[in-house]
Amino acid sequence: MTGHSATLRSIFIEHSGKASDKWAMYLDEYNRLFDSYRDLPVRLLEIGIQNGGSLEIWKKYFSNAEMIVGCDNNPVCAQLIYADPQIVVVMADANTDEAEQRIRAVSAAFDLIIDDGSHHSGDIVRSFARYFAHLADGGMYIAEDLHCSYWQGFEGGLFHPDSSVTFFKRLADVINHEHWGVDVTRCELLKGFSSKYTATLDEVALASIHSIEFINSMCVIRKAQPDANVLGHRLIVGAEALVCSDILPFHGSSSLLTSQTDNPWSSEDCPLDAALLAQTQEIARLTASVSARDTEIANLNQTATASALDNLAQLAQVRQQLETKLLQLTEQSQLRSGLEQSVKTYLQTNQDSANVLALLISDSPNPAR
Ligand SMILES: C[S@@+](CC[C@H](N)C(=O)[O-])C[C@H]1O[C@@H](n2cnc3c(N)ncnc32)[C@H](O)[C@@H]1O
Repeated sequence: MTGHSATLRSIFIEHSGKASDKWAMYLDEYNRLFDSYRDLPVRLLEIGIQNGGSLEIWKKYFSNAEMIVGCDNNPVCAQLIYADPQIVVVMADANTDEAEQRIRAVSAAFDLIIDDGSHHSGDIVRSFARYFAHLADGGMYIAEDLHCSYWQGFEGGLFHPDSSVTFFKRLADVINHEHWGVDVTRCELLKGFSSKYTATLDEVALASIHSIEFINSMCVIRKAQPDANVLGHRLIVGAEALVCSDILPFHGSSSLLTSQTDNPWSSEDCPLDAALLAQTQEIARLTASVSARDTEIANLNQTATASALDNLAQLAQVRQQLETKLLQLTEQSQLRSGLEQSVKTYLQTNQDSANVLALLISDSPNPAR
């Protein structure tokens, strides 16, 4: 511990210049994390500065600071004026090539990088992909306000596969890359994040991650040369091995790496939560499509039933007309039979009369005889 009487908390509480907005817990954590840098000529980058007060506070805390750079995309930040020439503001969207170039023109590398920008998962992943490469070995990258990673409005959620916290948790796997036992690069493990957020991750930069530390709402990623991040040899000292003497020959050996290609928990193409999400989304898509089909079938049934009912009504009408016609024809037919009968009777009556008349004529005396 450096022997400074003023802690970050006391400097922060007593600050009266430009406003700064930090959670109480961060002050003590930063004090612990930054203590060994306190007297060094640090180069610090803070993404997201708002009113600019944190830059003044960092300068008070790191009295030997070489450069304190703040980046903010709020155009009003361009009006922030500092008497101290070691405080520089770059007004730009941190996740653009332009901002990166302008920041690196002020300082090519940084010892401390703090992301206190938009807190959206995409921005956090993009900023890490862009700026971790510019962190000096032995430096520290801190993402603040990761509680937003659990909120939907910030591309987050407790089980969100692409949240910023999920990303940082995955970096814990990246640290252990040498033990995976499958032929997958660090970049390949993170391909879901790089493609979702169009972030370009670099294998060498990822191999430089030395440690990850999670604190409430903060993630601290320390950087070291890649060869300082390997497990190294197994060291066994002492000659008395009463409980297990089998270990003694392993002194100086390397980690026993066995292939995990047959391990279903290691051979998946992507992390299981991402695979599960993809399957869940596919099931939801298929369920929606089945439901749309069901609606279509119900509509077609309704149309078919209506049309069948319409046809039945028409058939009933035709049948009614035919029955009426048949009735008329039957009546006409009966009438005709009646008439025929009358005519026959009439004719028969006439014939009988004619016969009687003929008989009468033949029987009567002929006056001419
Ligand atoms: C929480 S405030 C920063 C507070 C400040 N660090 C402090 O300690 O007082 C977040 C700031 O990030 C800025 N910001 C959001 N997205 C950004 C981006 N893509 N690039 C740079 N700044 C961004 C916002 O304009 C806002 O001023």
